[in-house]
Amino acid sequence: MSRLAVDMRRALDPAALAEDVGMLPDPWQAEVMRTAALRVLLNCCRQSGKSTTCALKAVHVAVYEPESVILLLSPSQRQSQELFRKVLAVYKSLGRPVPSEGENALSLTLENGSRVVSLPGTESTVRAYSAVRLLIVDEAARVPDDVIAAVRPMLAVSGGQLIALSTPFGRRGWWYEAWEHGGKSWQRVRIPATDCPRISPDFLDEERAALGPWFFDQEYGCEFGDTEAAAFASEDIAAMFREDVKTWTV
Ligand SMILES: Nc1ncnc2c1ncn2[C@@H]1O[C@H](COP(=O)(O)OP(=O)(O)OP(=O)(O)O)[C@@H](O)[C@H]1O
Ligand SMILES: [Mg+2]
Repeated sequence: MSRLAVDMRRALDPAALAEDVGMLPDPWQAEVMRTAALRVLLNCCRQSGKSTTCALKAVHVAVYEPESVILLLSPSQRQSQELFRKVLAVYKSLGRPVPSEGENALSLTLENGSRVVSLPGTESTVRAYSAVRLLIVDEAARVPDDVIAAVRPMLAVSGGQLIALSTPFGRRGWWYEAWEHGGKSWQRVRIPATDCPRISPDFLDEERAALGPWFFDQEYGCEFGDTEAAAFASEDIAAMFREDVKTWTV
C-alpha cells in the first residue's frame, strides 16, 4: 500500500491505527476507538486493554483532528504518567505521523496545533483547560466527584467526548451512579475477564483465591461490590491507592 493510502486508511479508521502498531483490537476495542458517542462508560476488567484502547483513540484524534485538546485524567500522578507513556508509545511506533513541537513526561504538543495532556485528578490542576475535544478519565471509579464536576464544563462549548474507564469500586461515586442510574445518554461497554481472550481460566482461579470474592468480582467480573459488605472500611481501601500515605518498610 502506498504511504498516502496507509495514511488515508488510518485517518478514516482508528482501528486501522491499532493494527499499524501491531495490535489486533478486540471487537469492543475497535468499537470504542470508532465511537462518536459523546458519553461512554467502559466497565472492563483488569488488563482487558482499556487504557491502551483510549491511548490509541487519543493519538488518533490528536493526529487527524488539528487543534484538538485531549485531556487524560487519572486519580494519581503515577497513573497519569503510566497512561501518558502508552500515548507516547503509540505516537512513536506510528513513526510520529505529525511532528511534535513539545514533548515531556505528561504532555505532547503537535505541529498541527493538537495537544495531549495527562493530569492527576485534583480539582486545582484540571481547572486550567477549556474547549476539550476528548476527555479520558482512567480508573474513573477512583476519581473524586468534585474533580469530575470541575472538568465536565470543559466539554460544553466544544461538544467534546467523555470516555470514563474503570473497574468498579463499590456502590458509590459518580462513575457508579452514571453506570447504574445515568440513563440512555451513556454508551456502556462491559467486558468481564471471561470475555477477554488474553486472560486464562487458570489465572482467574488463582486470582479468585488470592483476592477473595469482593475484590475478585469487581476486578475481573465488572460487578459493583456491596459497600456495606466490604471487609474493609472504604477509607482504608481508598488509602491503599493514595500516594501521600506512607507505607511501612519492614
Ligand atoms: N487487542 C490486544 N491484543 C494484544 N494485546 C493487547 C490488546 N489489548 C491490550 N493488550 C495488552 O494487554 C495489556 C493490558 O492492557 P492495558 O494496560 O491497556 O489494560 P487495562 O485494562 O488498562 O489494565 P488495568 O486494569 O490493569 O489498568 C497490555 O500489555 C496491552 O498491550
Ligand atoms: Mg489501565
